[in-house]
Amino acid sequence: MVEAGDAIVARGLAKRYGSRVALDGLDLRVPAGAVYGFLGPNGAGKTTTMRILTGLARPDAGTVEIFGRPFGRGARRLLFDVGALVEAPSFYPFLTGRENLLALAAAGAPVPRGRVDEVLDLVSLRDRARDRVSGYSTGMRQRLAIAAALLNDPRLLLLDEPANGLDPAGIVGMRDTLRSLAAQGRTVLVSSHLLAEVEHLADIVGIIAHGRLVREGPLGQLLRQEGELRIRVAPDEIAVAGPILERLAGADRVRLDDTPSRDTLVVRCDPGLAAELNRELGAAGVWASRIESGVSLESLFLEVTGAAAGPGGGLG
Ligand SMILES: Nc1ncnc2c1ncn2[C@@H]1O[C@H](COP(=O)(O)OP(=O)(O)O)[C@@H](O)[C@H]1O
Ligand SMILES: [Mg+2]
Repeated sequence: MVEAGDAIVARGLAKRYGSRVALDGLDLRVPAGAVYGFLGPNGAGKTTTMRILTGLARPDAGTVEIFGRPFGRGARRLLFDVGALVEAPSFYPFLTGRENLLALAAAGAPVPRGRVDEVLDLVSLRDRARDRVSGYSTGMRQRLAIAAALLNDPRLLLLDEPANGLDPAGIVGMRDTLRSLAAQGRTVLVSSHLLAEVEHLADIVGIIAHGRLVREGPLGQLLRQEGELRIRVAPDEIAVAGPILERLAGADRVRLDDTPSRDTLVVRCDPGLAAELNRELGAAGVWASRIESGVSLESLFLEVTGAAAGPGGGLG
């Protein structure tokens, strides 16, 4: 991915609407060829970011590079590299899906013959392409909108909450569509306020809260960094085990779980350290009766976006 370079590099994006701060110094780096899951609660600034990246809005401050070239006034040619679904898609309901795409193709940059059928295939709409859009489900309209975004064969696809309004089957269909686009080497930036939608799709996740990126990285790496081990020992061994774990993991990474039994130490660390910690405890004569590891993206997401129930929540 390094040699392929970056599809998007945004630095210090700021945007306010009156006194309301939508983006507060947002940094974003999307490597070429990646599926990037842009996660954040409602109001976090995802749509504002997408609008800036597609030239629909201008930032008050900050810079954007798309495929290594500055993006801004006078760089609209770059938009030919970008396909986007940012605003709610609108189609002529009385035309078929295919006719809608043909109309768009005629109005925009020239596309090769056969391209319309190609993109209909890509989003699995070929067999419904000759039906009127008025009879389409929400999921079919979303897929048609993605087909429209793909017409001029963009290298980069920006999709703002494409799963909104879809039922579970539609979400699975959307995920398959995005996977097949990524398999062709396209870069996909897809936003969502529901992490289950991107958890099994994204190579890289960026979490936005209050207009700032609070985490960014490969999913596995984030989970390791944010991992926790829950280690249960006899209550009278807490006093021995605690300092050992603090020495190995760092003093600020160990806490006593606030359960009534007061026998479980929670260590924030790579869950892969479980065996080593256990060995050190054993060497000091402390035998853990139970070690649980892991952190779901769900708890990470809730924690970093400040939506958790309260302090010390962690893994429940
Ligand atoms: N056109 C606008 N006028 C006023 N406030 C806006 C406008 N667009 C967005 N905002 C505000 O900016 C913040 C970020 O919004 P948005 O980018 O839509 O978040 P998200 O897409 O993550 O839900 C919110 O507080 C929202 O109310
Ligand atoms: Mg939004």
